[in-house]
Amino acid sequence: MYQPKPTQGDTSWFVQDRFGMFVHWGLYALPSRHEWVQSIEKIAPDIYYEKYFKHFNPTHYDPRAWAKAAREARMKYVVLTSKHHEGFCLWDSAYTDYKVTNTPYGKDLITPFAEAFRAEGLRVGLYYSLIDWHHPDFPIDIFHPLRDHPEAAKMNESRHIERYAEYMYNQVEELLQRFDPSVLWCDFSYPGRDYKGMPGKGHQDWQSEKFLAMIRRISPRIVMNNRLDLPAAAADIHTPEQIQPTEWVKVNGEPVVWEACQTFSGSWGYHRDEETWKSPEQLIMMLINTVACGGNLLMNVGPTSLGTLDQRAYKALGAYRDWMALHSASIYGCTQSEFTPPQDCRLTQKGNKLYVHIYAWPFRHLHLYGLGGKVEYARFLHDGSEVALEANGWELEQIRVGEDELILGLPVRKPDVIVPVIELTLK
Ligand code: GLC
Repeated sequence: MYQPKPTQGDTSWFVQDRFGMFVHWGLYALPSRHEWVQSIEKIAPDIYYEKYFKHFNPTHYDPRAWAKAAREARMKYVVLTSKHHEGFCLWDSAYTDYKVTNTPYGKDLITPFAEAFRAEGLRVGLYYSLIDWHHPDFPIDIFHPLRDHPEAAKMNESRHIERYAEYMYNQVEELLQRFDPSVLWCDFSYPGRDYKGMPGKGHQDWQSEKFLAMIRRISPRIVMNNRLDLPAAAADIHTPEQIQPTEWVKVNGEPVVWEACQTFSGSWGYHRDEETWKSPEQLIMMLINTVACGGNLLMNVGPTSLGTLDQRAYKALGAYRDWMALHSASIYGCTQSEFTPPQDCRLTQKGNKLYVHIYAWPFRHLHLYGLGGKVEYARFLHDGSEVALEANGWELEQIRVGEDELILGLPVRKPDVIVPVIELTLK
């Protein structure tokens, strides 16, 4: 199976853990209608400040509850937005006043978050937005809330991207030294996305080479994502989002370590009225589909402005909790298998353990091609019960059984789990 070329960061734990929690939290939780609300509704920074910064006070913030729910869902790492595109900082940064310690809440949010998740055994990563709609030196561009302001071009004359790049450099250096994250998730570059003569932004604007050199110097083993507009090899992981890859992700024809990030609903940030919450079946199948193609799944929650996860998020996490409690063996440390999955199934594999995830329950037999004579034992993961190898009986006399075909005998009724999994122990 594919073995991506080693990169500078240490992804050995990452490809074992497979499953993480993304947390998108910021001032946008107050309007509660998507983390891009400031751009979508073109809310000027000073108005956004007055409306939301001055009212940010998550009185119910309890990261231990979030961490417990993540552990119960069997998530093994977490990535928190330290600063999203709005520019608001969730920690007491020395480089800005636009930070949580200056809001009515008045306290750093990241330290208790990191402590809570590490106490539950999860690794902690940080997301850092390259985009910053608040910073006075961030040039207005295609995504900026002031993009259609009549004076936008003139305003940009006094905005100096090199000063913003220095700000970014200093803040990320501060985050690495203060919180020692296992993952740094930067977002995102858009070179060539020009708008009304205002250019997009890429590696020259961020000074990405210098920025990444600092990151690697301070945290040589950190897992770094791929959104700095640098050559593919500069990243440790590649990060398709809101899409379900159906094969191992390759970049320039080379298989890479990859992580799909997805949302429970249609928004990363808390969105009160967004109703496209995925079903438990979809959530479980997204995880299986991802690992079956050799990837990780980073599933997102968007906390409320009170500092809580809403009931919809807990319900969605509960779907993972209930299924992973019985089936995590088919996810942790597993990857794509070279065997051909049967109809309506997905395969994951770890050494001589081959896991058959059954999406559509067949009538009495499961036909696996290429496995005849290769399996020593078969069992269900949900209850450990043996699954009949080499199913026999007069019924099979009615069909032609291929030389290398393995036919498993199944109960007529589907087991009462969202996706039943059969563990095959290979000879
Ligand atoms: C996109 C969105 C951003 C989100 C990110 C997560 O870049 O713009 O809001 O944080 O996806 O991958």
